[in-house]
Amino acid sequence: MTSVTRSKLLWDFSKKVLNSDVPGDFVECGVWKGGSAGIMGMALEKFDADHHRKLHLFDSFEGLPEPSELDGEGAAIYSGGVSSGKLESVHQCEAGIDEVKNFLFNHLSLAEERLIFHQGWFQDTLPLLKEHPSKIALLRLDGDWYESTKVCLDYLYDRVPKGGVIILDDYFCWEGCKKAADEFRAARGIVDQIVRVDHEAVYWIKS
Ligand SMILES: C[S@@+](CC[C@H](N)C(=O)[O-])C[C@H]1O[C@@H](n2cnc3c(N)ncnc32)[C@H](O)[C@@H]1O
Repeated sequence: MTSVTRSKLLWDFSKKVLNSDVPGDFVECGVWKGGSAGIMGMALEKFDADHHRKLHLFDSFEGLPEPSELDGEGAAIYSGGVSSGKLESVHQCEAGIDEVKNFLFNHLSLAEERLIFHQGWFQDTLPLLKEHPSKIALLRLDGDWYESTKVCLDYLYDRVPKGGVIILDDYFCWEGCKKAADEFRAARGIVDQIVRVDHEAVYWIKS
């Protein structure tokens, strides 16, 4: 679903954090069919040959939930006219877990022991996280909506060490994503520069 520019950036950052020994696993929240997860997984296969690092994949695997009013009119229209924030699929960006596993394991030949699937709404799965991933070298957020972005930052940001990379795929695409990130950064006093990748995505590197 992403652009060539974003795919290349993801590959380059995957390589960079591994080559510069930023500690931690890779995490993607919002997987859909697994395209970006595949890039992250292939980079791990190539540059983390001893299989120390895991790739954690969070998704409902049943599509986007309802947006809330904070996501704006465009999000409600995209979702078939609903915007109450209910954790019920609006059947956009829908891909089942078997389809994603088939793509990652059979098509890309990623090692099964490397990947950890967290199936369910972020709001349900993230609070259940225990020790792992204890550190996150690369955090890619691609859940589109305000609440989806906020809950990921709330639960995962503190696990990103210095030098870790945070990629927000939807910052300039969906207004709720930008709002959630801006509020989070303001509340935490984060001044690491937000770098624009293209017409949709941004990243920052944790200092
Ligand atoms: C735009 S798609 C992801 C695209 C994918 N990363 C790629 O690169 O092709 C958004 C994904 O986020 C998931 N998602 C959004 N909000 C969620 C939530 N609150 N809980 C679980 N999954 C969510 C949807 O199920 C969907 O698969």
